[in-house]
Amino acid sequence: MTIEVRPIREEDIESFHAAVGVVARERTYLALLEAPPIERARSFVLRNIEKGYPQFVAIADREVVGWCNIPPASREVMAHVGDLFMGLLPQWRGQGLGERLLRESLAAADAFGYLRIELGVFAGNTRAAALYRKAGFIEEGVKRRAILIDGVFHDEVIMARLRD
Ligand SMILES: CC(C)(COP(=O)(O)OP(=O)(O)OC[C@H]1O[C@@H](n2cnc3c(N)ncnc32)[C@H](O)[C@@H]1OP(=O)(O)O)[C@@H](O)C(=O)NCCC(=O)NCCS
Repeated sequence: MTIEVRPIREEDIESFHAAVGVVARERTYLALLEAPPIERARSFVLRNIEKGYPQFVAIADREVVGWCNIPPASREVMAHVGDLFMGLLPQWRGQGLGERLLRESLAAADAFGYLRIELGVFAGNTRAAALYRKAGFIEEGVKRRAILIDGVFHDEVIMARLRD
């Protein structure tokens, strides 16, 4: 099946929201247990589209199977910083799609003008960390026991990619 990677559109909002929910409910990779309410997801996406903040999706059969958002950090003094958040539905992992989605999103982030892109990854998520390292991210530190899911602590590794 051909997978399209492209900027998100308004028509993708519900399927983007559903995809985040699927990965959140795995309770393994994201600092979320459920997708945010649909109205919050809608205003988030519409704002990204309106402001030109990078948000790419991978589309298979008209459904979102992966996403990569890089909106700016919320404080004015951090407007040069993009906060990256990505994921793929389980059946689409390990086939090069995450790398494709990340590279396209980073190209858009560079064109947007971010000077720093940062993210947090669970310490046990070696697949994601390897992908980020491959794309130029460097580990900066560890927030110990930052996440607690089902009685298990996860350290969160902070990674960033700088641009001169
Ligand atoms: C993390 C994720 C986006 C990676 O996307 P992917 O499509 O599975 O990864 P790719 O097939 O594009 O692989 C890209 C690179 O990731 C790394 N990688 C992929 N699978 C791996 C594995 N099983 N173990 C270790 N590294 C792995 C490798 O560096 C790989 O490059 P290589 O093929 O040249 O060795 C995807 O697996 C995912 O959505 N996982 C669940 C949600 C998640 O972890 N989101 C990130 C939260 S911070």
